[in-house]
Amino acid sequence: MNKLKKIKDFNSAADHYDSDAIMQSMIAEELIDRLHYIKINPKRILDIGSATGRNAVLLAKIFPAAEIYELDFSIDMLRVSMNKSSGFRKLFSSKKRYFINADMDLLPFHDNTFDLIVSSNSIQWSENINALFKNINNLLTIDGLFLFSSFLKNTLIELQYFKEHALTQNFLTIQEYAEILNNNNFYDPVLIRDEYQNEYDGALSALRDLKKIGVTKSDESHKSLRGKNYLLKLIDHLDQFKRNDKNILSYEVIMAHAWKIRNKEESVIRFTKS
Ligand SMILES: C[S@@+](CC[C@H](N)C(=O)[O-])C[C@H]1O[C@@H](n2cnc3c(N)ncnc32)[C@H](O)[C@@H]1O
Repeated sequence: MNKLKKIKDFNSAADHYDSDAIMQSMIAEELIDRLHYIKINPKRILDIGSATGRNAVLLAKIFPAAEIYELDFSIDMLRVSMNKSSGFRKLFSSKKRYFINADMDLLPFHDNTFDLIVSSNSIQWSENINALFKNINNLLTIDGLFLFSSFLKNTLIELQYFKEHALTQNFLTIQEYAEILNNNNFYDPVLIRDEYQNEYDGALSALRDLKKIGVTKSDESHKSLRGKNYLLKLIDHLDQFKRNDKNILSYEVIMAHAWKIRNKEESVIRFTKS
């Protein structure tokens, strides 16, 4: 994966991210909402792939006394978050909020730093999810919680069938996530699988939608495939998945949480199918 190109893509998406990433917003809200039902009172929270700070606002409402660290490798996403209106600033006035421009694959913190680590719709961009989960486990305090959402194997299945369009994100299965959590000393995991389908009036608007939120083909080695012929083939391919004359993009989503140490209650892995 060409990381510099990814950073550039997310930088270009930053100014319109809040209005474009509607589905991501719904997923993130549902994810953060789960904290209302989990017994935890974190002093320090890290949001990995924080983008424009939407999670930080939700987290600050639930945990008004906590310090919140927003981490993103896109400086423009962080800039948008920092410049949010005075209403948002007021929400954070009595507490500390930090902006960290860094790569999630090189997390710049000491062990045992955070009581809660959150990441919505971002860890699929990691180059090594196993190493990332190991680092996250190290960064958590003893009673710490990791809460995340990401996309699963069948996400953008309509594009995956298009052989030339190699999307290089890590879309794993829910079983693989369960294994990675288990291998990295996370306990009492709860994993939920959900499906979303977005409908579009044409293949081009589906592709534009992906570009707007920073999802583009990141492999520069296939430049010859770009251009009009490539685009026509891609549109033709997407049209094969049309339903009721609408183009479709599918998303398979995981929402999960797990603890750094085992709770006293019985440890069970629960899979829920919607
Ligand atoms: C799809 S957005 C999700 C943003 C937000 N959490 C949400 O749910 O709406 C993914 C974010 O992760 C960031 N990101 C992607 N790869 C990253 C990396 N390796 N290190 C840090 N941030 C990264 C992008 O810049 C982008 O802001």
